[in-house]
Amino acid sequence: MRAIKKTIFAIVTMSALLLSSCASSSSGNNENVKTVPIKKSAAVYFSRVGNTEFADDVDAISSASLNRVGGELKGNAQMIAQWAADEAGCDSFEIVTDKSYPEDYDKTVDLAKDEKSAKERPSLKSSFDNIDDYDTIWLVFPNWWADLPMPVYSFFDKYDFSGKNIYVFVTHEGSGFSSTIKSIKELEPKANVVEALSIRGGSVNDNESSVRDYVKKQLEK
Ligand SMILES: Cc1cc2nc3c(=O)[nH]c(=O)nc-3n(C[C@H](O)[C@H](O)[C@H](O)COP(=O)(O)O)c2cc1C
Repeated sequence: MRAIKKTIFAIVTMSALLLSSCASSSSGNNENVKTVPIKKSAAVYFSRVGNTEFADDVDAISSASLNRVGGELKGNAQMIAQWAADEAGCDSFEIVTDKSYPEDYDKTVDLAKDEKSAKERPSLKSSFDNIDDYDTIWLVFPNWWADLPMPVYSFFDKYDFSGKNIYVFVTHEGSGFSSTIKSIKELEPKANVVEALSIRGGSVNDNESSVRDYVKKQLEK
């Protein structure tokens, strides 16, 4: 079943894939985006892990998008966010929903599809109250159905990023950024939205240096 759904994602995004290189990470064309100098940044991320109650003995080797780091279960977006936060020496915030997503991957895929069709905004447990203190966020999330997971829509409904930089990092299984950048620009029309890196879930662990180098480069600008 999981293989079938991955095939569907691949078909949906075939045109994007044909245009992209084989590299596991890529950064986009940001020619017209003007950013403000980075003085204080925060990493903000949404991941399946952190929004799902997994059994203690869940198999992180054969399960999609799960990593075990020092015994702790971590999602792909979470790994990327932690490298970005560590490189920037900044705070890290997780987007957490009130509800829990199903442990079963396929059920989560189906539920996310329903949420997207219903334009649902799942309520958030987490808050990011001192948002005014930050001029920049390193935003990391998984591509869900060729777009932002609906909890990331909830996040943007709640907070205003006008005049701030949003560096977007997407993790995916073949679709890359899809329509995520367009969606964020619509939700935050006055923010400086930068297509940063898209990283395949299966090769997240090979991309620590590309994430760190990318963040370092932005901080040196
Ligand atoms: C609900 C759901 C929908 C997904 N939709 C897509 C998709 O449209 N395209 C794609 O390439 N990958 C898709 N994926 C795969 C994830 O984007 C990928 O596994 C990602 O690395 C997971 O990151 P995480 O561990 O931080 O949740 C989907 C995964 C889930 C759970």
